[in-house]
Amino acid sequence: MSTTKSIDTAADAGQRAKANTLISPRFYTTDFEAMNRLDISSVRSEWDKMMLEYEGDNNHDHFQRDAGFGAEIRDMSPELKQEFLDFLVSSLTSEFSGQILYNEIRKNISNPDIKALMGFMARDESRHAGFINQSLRDYGLAVDLGDLKKTKTYTYFKPKYIFYATYLSEKIGYARYITIYRQLEKHPDKRFHPIFKWFERWCNDEFRHGESFALIMRANPKLLTGLNVYWIRFFLLAVYATMYVRDHTRPQLHIAMGLDPKEYGYTVFRITTEITRQVFPVSLDTDHPSFRAGLERLHAISDKITAAKARGGIVGLVNQGVWAVAGFTTFARLYFLPVKSHSLPKQIRMVPAW
Ligand SMILES: [Fe+2]
Ligand SMILES: [Fe+2]
Repeated sequence: MSTTKSIDTAADAGQRAKANTLISPRFYTTDFEAMNRLDISSVRSEWDKMMLEYEGDNNHDHFQRDAGFGAEIRDMSPELKQEFLDFLVSSLTSEFSGQILYNEIRKNISNPDIKALMGFMARDESRHAGFINQSLRDYGLAVDLGDLKKTKTYTYFKPKYIFYATYLSEKIGYARYITIYRQLEKHPDKRFHPIFKWFERWCNDEFRHGESFALIMRANPKLLTGLNVYWIRFFLLAVYATMYVRDHTRPQLHIAMGLDPKEYGYTVFRITTEITRQVFPVSLDTDHPSFRAGLERLHAISDKITAAKARGGIVGLVNQGVWAVAGFTTFARLYFLPVKSHSLPKQIRMVPAW
């Protein structure tokens, strides 16, 4: 259970969004010249079809509240409310991170294909971020996005790391939102906030964003072969492990939705793995008992680190160090577990069918 400071004011929400922990969403910058050199001509027909979908903009009217929105916000226990706020702030930070990155790439490059794509994706992410921030505003906790943009630390990633990480976060974002949506569609009594009703059409945007990166990587097959396969394995594990650990810091949120964080996590991994076969030649064996035991251990270690931080002092610091080493070792062990290999399909694009 998280022992971080609660979110009681808009300043607290801003601090939470700014935080740079191992599991908090980050802001990125990259090499724009390298982005300029990308060539997607080998996937041109699939690319053009996708761009038409972006232009058609079938979600242009989706991110508006209906008249009954406010009345559907239920009372929450203080614990649930804090976890829900943490979920909103963390989701907002991810959406805004995408908005900034895509927009910066758009502004700094001339490659017409990539520039147009980045413009559409920034448009979508800005709607997503704005919609979440409205729900924070209901509680007087809207995050000052201008300030966040100026003051949060940016991590530099080479384009290929941006592609692996962003592709995965778009696709796992889809899998997370659709799993929550399907659960609450079946159990409307557990829908304690109306924002979840927006998730279905919302996650189709994320799915399409992921498709864009899939096409870029398939058009540049070097990104998917040789030593790069080790990077793909690294990013798969980093993204899965981060999600697993982060979701376990919000037990009340999962109870309220009738989801077990472990089962929820493995459902999301299964969906994400089915999707990533469109582009990655390897996938993690998330059903393997050693994999599952390793993730459980990472989650336990993360709790120990939180407790050591809360304890403070020399003992707390030493404990933090000890558990950080244990975390690193566990991650490394997970990394070297056998993975599944597969060949890539001729047709790259998929439909969001979950
Ligand atoms: Fe988004
Ligand atoms: Fe997205």
